[in-house]
Amino acid sequence: MFCRFDASLAPLVFSDQMIQISVGVPTTNLYGIGENRKPFRIQVEQSPGFSLWAHDMIPKINANQYGSHPFVLGIEPNGDAFGIFLLNSNALRIDVLPTSPVTIRYRTLGGILDFYVFTGPTPDDVIDQYWALIGQPPLPPYWSLGYHLSRWGYGGSSGMNATIQRMRNKQMPFDTIWNDIDYMVKEMDWTYDHKLYGQLPDIVKDVHSHGEKYVMILDPGISNTQPRGQYAPYDDGITEDIFVKTADGSAPIVGEVWPGKTVFPDFTHPKAESWWQKHAQIMHSKLPFDGLWIDMNEPANFKAGSENGCTSNSLENPPYTPPLEGGSIIDKTLCMSAKFHDGLHYNLHNMYGYFESRVTYNVLKSIVRKRPFVLSRSTFVGSGNYVAHWEGDNFADWSDLYYSIPEVLSFNMFGIPFTGVDICGFRGDSDEELCTRWLQLGAFYPFMRSHNQNVAPDKDPAAMRFSSAAHDRNREALRLRYRLLPFLYSLMSRKKAVARPLVFQYPTDSTTYSIDKQFLWGDSLLITPVLNRGHTTVNAYFPQDTWYDFFSGAEVSKTGRWTVVSAPLDKINVHIRGGSIVPTQVPDVNTQKSRRNDFGLVVAPSARKTSQGFLYWDDGETIDAPFNHIQFNLDGERLTSTVKSSNYATTMTLGSVDVYGVAIAPTTVRVNGIGVAHTYDSVNKVLHVTRLKVDLLKPLMMTW
Ligand code: GLC
Repeated sequence: MFCRFDASLAPLVFSDQMIQISVGVPTTNLYGIGENRKPFRIQVEQSPGFSLWAHDMIPKINANQYGSHPFVLGIEPNGDAFGIFLLNSNALRIDVLPTSPVTIRYRTLGGILDFYVFTGPTPDDVIDQYWALIGQPPLPPYWSLGYHLSRWGYGGSSGMNATIQRMRNKQMPFDTIWNDIDYMVKEMDWTYDHKLYGQLPDIVKDVHSHGEKYVMILDPGISNTQPRGQYAPYDDGITEDIFVKTADGSAPIVGEVWPGKTVFPDFTHPKAESWWQKHAQIMHSKLPFDGLWIDMNEPANFKAGSENGCTSNSLENPPYTPPLEGGSIIDKTLCMSAKFHDGLHYNLHNMYGYFESRVTYNVLKSIVRKRPFVLSRSTFVGSGNYVAHWEGDNFADWSDLYYSIPEVLSFNMFGIPFTGVDICGFRGDSDEELCTRWLQLGAFYPFMRSHNQNVAPDKDPAAMRFSSAAHDRNREALRLRYRLLPFLYSLMSRKKAVARPLVFQYPTDSTTYSIDKQFLWGDSLLITPVLNRGHTTVNAYFPQDTWYDFFSGAEVSKTGRWTVVSAPLDKINVHIRGGSIVPTQVPDVNTQKSRRNDFGLVVAPSARKTSQGFLYWDDGETIDAPFNHIQFNLDGERLTSTVKSSNYATTMTLGSVDVYGVAIAPTTVRVNGIGVAHTYDSVNKVLHVTRLKVDLLKPLMMTW
């Protein structure tokens, strides 16, 4: 590796409101820098530039979006990887110039040059080193890995209830039901509309009695126009003095969000947490929510700066401003000279979502006394310690379907692996084909949620306007997700990237450098979704390795090349890498039920007939829960397990084992010394052993 901080590439500028520095890097294979919509590999040849400034903005190519992650990963042609991270919360411009060597030019509007360089040498090492610095994400509650269903505008309790009922009637697996701002009175936090959503407490009770969970939205803007004594969150906030102030510090700065005029909590204020806690607790006693969704926390403001504009100074009009959506640094947010307890909005803007995430995580943890689940739109370096993330207001079209993959892969590098996008698209209409394809891909987002705009027609998997054939396909996509949840949970427990680009696994294979229409789960599953309307085949790249169709077990005959594979509407292509053992579980309609079902193992031998895998299992909700860890090992015709840890007292039954790549039909199969029934698929060379009842918490030995 040879990265050079070099003033000859672009002059070093060091002034109060603009610092410029450049780094020469030895490769054109660069990844990261967010949150910006773009292909996963930065298109260096096109001289791209990225502005990092949290903005309430529909995802658009190269525009500054909701969060800021000044991290870049490079991979040299020999496979060596490095990372460069600038810890800086100011507005940033990062240009990537196709010079020789490639130049990464940083221009920040303040702060200091706090650079970190990670030396890898593998891409995974770089991510480990980066996360060691910024914090590893905690293990989320198990239920939050299930499917989440959200909508803005159910039309009140009855519409919400109808959505839940059709999901249940059609046996669609789901774990949560969400409310957007329409559950509130005039869109004000910590209230609910007793008319429109009069049945909400009963709905939440019913949801809980079915083993499902309830999540609701909160926005930071607090209405300041209610009569005194009518709206305690505002009155208390004034008493505690925790709102962001105007430039002269004399009063809370006033903007406008969904409830109309609002003030904004200063989550850096030492008293903000107890204030947020108090109102969360009161609300929880009426609507016992399980998770929280924090939105509009860039912070978003429908007025530029404030209701009265901003004072005129160099913070509001910096001598240098990067190209920004909306054309100005105060577009859709507060004045730059607004005052926080910890400093000026100018310096803290990109961290507003981070501070709100931390406070909300702590508050939820103290209320539910379990692992908190919080989803945040705006994120900063380290947000993954507290929250999951979604891509915001995407559109229901095929190109947005594709861009979800680079988004998810990038956030897996940024330390927020628990990321997804609104399945079927937030804005606009989605036909049933797009929705099915999106559910199939969404089954492989670490965070899987459908969400929908108030003015858009229903897009939930059981929507009445979809055909019953579509319902069947959607259910299959959801069942596949639930089948794989033990594997996903085990991946999450490793505190490493979950959704990984192919280049991380095959860094010396130059074909993988730009691949972002396929990706991996861990190092075992290769996911190849259909991303085009009407297509029933898809072009898949199989790196040189052993690959099997995850469903049939058929081995891919030619690797190290592109291959057209069949992808009818009811199928997403998933392949398992030889050398892997993937734990599964019989799916059910939610995780409370599926967690009681039998486990399965899919065993994919490498060319040397060996494989490894593991299963991590705990109660799925307790903080620092005792856990079971079971290691699986294949060696030739012998599959064994080692119980590395068994501190969680529970029943874990292995019901089936599928071994791929078994060349010759076995005559006898023994499990723990006893002969068991089996079938052999001579076409696909698969050994199936079903109807087992084996205790996974004891060592397993299967031979054939
Ligand atoms: C924002 C969010 C979106 C939400 C809407 C209403 O646009 O990104 O998810 O539905 O606000 O709350």
